[in-house]
Amino acid sequence: MLYYYKNFSNVMKKIKVHNPVVEIDGDEMAKIIWKYIKTYFIFPYLDINIIYFDLGIENRNLTDDQITIEAAYAIKKYNVGIKCATITPDKDRMKEFHLKKMWKSPNGTIRNIINGTVFREPIIVKNIPRLIPNWIHPICIARHAYADQYKAIDFMIKEKGKLYISFLPDDKKNQSIKYEIHHFMGPGIAMGMYNTDQSIYGFARSCFNYSVYKKWPLFLSTKNTILKAYDEKFKKIFQEIYENEFKSKFENLQITYEHRLIDDMIAKTIKSNGKFIWACKNYDGDVLSDCIAQGFGSLGMMTSVLLTPDGKTLESEAIHGTITRHYRSHQKGKETSTNPIASIFSWTRALKHRAILDKNADLKDFSDNMEKACIDFIESGKMTKDLFQLSKKNEQKNNYLNTQTFLKELKIFFDQRINKKT
Ligand SMILES: NC(=O)c1ccc[n+]([C@@H]2O[C@H](COP(=O)([O-])OP(=O)(O)OC[C@H]3O[C@@H](n4cnc5c(N)ncnc54)[C@H](O)[C@@H]3O)[C@@H](O)[C@H]2O)c1
Repeated sequence: MLYYYKNFSNVMKKIKVHNPVVEIDGDEMAKIIWKYIKTYFIFPYLDINIIYFDLGIENRNLTDDQITIEAAYAIKKYNVGIKCATITPDKDRMKEFHLKKMWKSPNGTIRNIINGTVFREPIIVKNIPRLIPNWIHPICIARHAYADQYKAIDFMIKEKGKLYISFLPDDKKNQSIKYEIHHFMGPGIAMGMYNTDQSIYGFARSCFNYSVYKKWPLFLSTKNTILKAYDEKFKKIFQEIYENEFKSKFENLQITYEHRLIDDMIAKTIKSNGKFIWACKNYDGDVLSDCIAQGFGSLGMMTSVLLTPDGKTLESEAIHGTITRHYRSHQKGKETSTNPIASIFSWTRALKHRAILDKNADLKDFSDNMEKACIDFIESGKMTKDLFQLSKKNEQKNNYLNTQTFLKELKIFFDQRINKKT
């Protein structure tokens, strides 16, 4: 066991992080808490080589967004990325920052380059009630963030007529396929969508790898009773990957894989205690991850990791944005009460991955201790406003901490823990 800290000013020995991690800085209030996190919880304890990228909106504009692409390739190279929330510009942001272009979401760019699956998971604390009281453990949603409705062509039908879908093979033009979908007797709507085997295989491998990493069972939901070709393909590919690549690993860990009809899966989830991974098709994952996040409470307590199909590269972040509303108050010199927990967990989750890749037990211990300290701290009654409002037991008026005090007290709490361990 290593000795990190004897008292707050006297560093005994920092934990050596053997390989670099990629840090992606962001915008607004998220950036402010990010800086505190590094100063309080990372630099004092870790001897770490950070490859830093500033993805703040000004720098993305200055570099014509090349910085986002460079950051994504750096994550691919070093296998570990930690990302602060960033602004995705809209028309108002274009004006606010005098942007050359409405730059794309950095998350989308990074995801396209790294090519992984996003896993969203709540951080559970006992004194924050859930909407569904039996959800005592996290439910982790894995969303297949590729194609389906998000790359579909949809359009209006304005008059009577026939709708067809056709496929023309590149090499066998005479073997084209054409299906009549519907004969419209009046106006309506239509859509054509697709997915690829390659992407579904990647999705499946990411999910099985993450399941092994968490040691939690995996469920895939589809509606294969209705979409007998489309959704059945997801089911078949997952089953094939399970049988050929993961069955023995799952059996050794005593975890299971099951395909469930989405209706069944929703019923199971509502009645469950959590502690499983739920692989969802793209649209289902979009909708259900928001449902689950609401069910567990605050955005400040939801983490997100992007994992590649081979399980080697992981990027981690909080699911919340740059918390503009709080930043506006901060800019006016007003007090804020912003929850930093999901951002702290984005560091610990990424560091844990670094620890696993490098077989660095001290770093893993450090990350586990940090997470446990965050949970115990909140369970001791210390909260930011978002949590205070959810916690029914805490009746006393305005008994919550501001951003800085929460972070300072959490640091003292963590230091005391570490001192006891040494
Ligand atoms: N992953 C990302 O980088 C990401 C994700 C979402 C939004 N964004 C960007 O963030 C900016 C602001 O977006 P938004 O306001 O819609 O979403 P947001 O998540 O930043 O904030 C929405 C609201 O949720 C609450 N909230 C969120 N995080 C909290 C925390 N840690 N502590 C306490 N309360 C918290 C606040 O009430 C806040 O007003 C936008 O520019 C958007 O593009 C980035």
